[in-house]
Amino acid sequence: MIRARNLSRSYGGANAPVRVLRGASLELYAGEAVAVIGPSGSGKSTLLNLLNGLMAPDEGELEILGRASSQLTDNDWAQLRRRHIATLFQDGNLIPTLMVARNIAFRAGLAGLAEHDGAALMERLDIAATAGRYPDQLSGGQRQRAALACAFAMQPKLILADEPTGSLDYATTQRVTPLFFDAIRERDVGALIVTHNPELAERCDRILELREGALRPWDSALSS
Ligand SMILES: Nc1ncnc2c1ncn2[C@@H]1O[C@H](COP(=O)(O)OP(=O)(O)O)[C@@H](O)[C@H]1O
Ligand SMILES: [Mg+2]
Repeated sequence: MIRARNLSRSYGGANAPVRVLRGASLELYAGEAVAVIGPSGSGKSTLLNLLNGLMAPDEGELEILGRASSQLTDNDWAQLRRRHIATLFQDGNLIPTLMVARNIAFRAGLAGLAEHDGAALMERLDIAATAGRYPDQLSGGQRQRAALACAFAMQPKLILADEPTGSLDYATTQRVTPLFFDAIRERDVGALIVTHNPELAERCDRILELREGALRPWDSALSS
């Protein structure tokens, strides 16, 4: 689903560039969940935005869902994001002027689905009672679960998630985590999950650490 080779990306223009990614490589296969860990500011969100085409790498090669990024136009990327690549941003996943149920229906519709399982998803994520509420009427944890429901409802091939349990309390994380993996395994979705949550990371097939701009297999023996 993802084949990335030596991705580099800087911020700050030509005069004083800050090199955030310096040769990050990774592969992700269908049905696989890979966790990305790394300190704040190490470039995790930047990496996700290269993989969903919202930013372009300065250097490196990227193949996404079998297509070379060098061949993808802005329209191609937009189409991929509508239909096949769900990004769970750290915030701002929901359209503020739409109720939760409408947000879900809208996302499924954008993905070209005539029907969706939004009601069942809300039930499973324990947010059925929020269906008729607007995003600003939800708690942080409810918003995060509504964003998950939107992502699953579009039946994506690839999920890129930035701290999907970041604003969930312990009990809710315990309940939502298995649902997250069920959705991945049931549909052979590939998932790249940025997380600080050890339990979420350990349920993934592999853990990669982003450090000094590169991705390396995380060695728990080294860090303990
Ligand atoms: N739009 C931007 N302009 C300038 N610097 C940025 C921008 N976005 C991120 N950065 C910088 O790049 C580094 C990595 O950011 P980010 O990818 O958000 O890291 P993480 O998600 O791991 O916390 C940080 O030092 C951040 O300040
Ligand atoms: Mg981030």
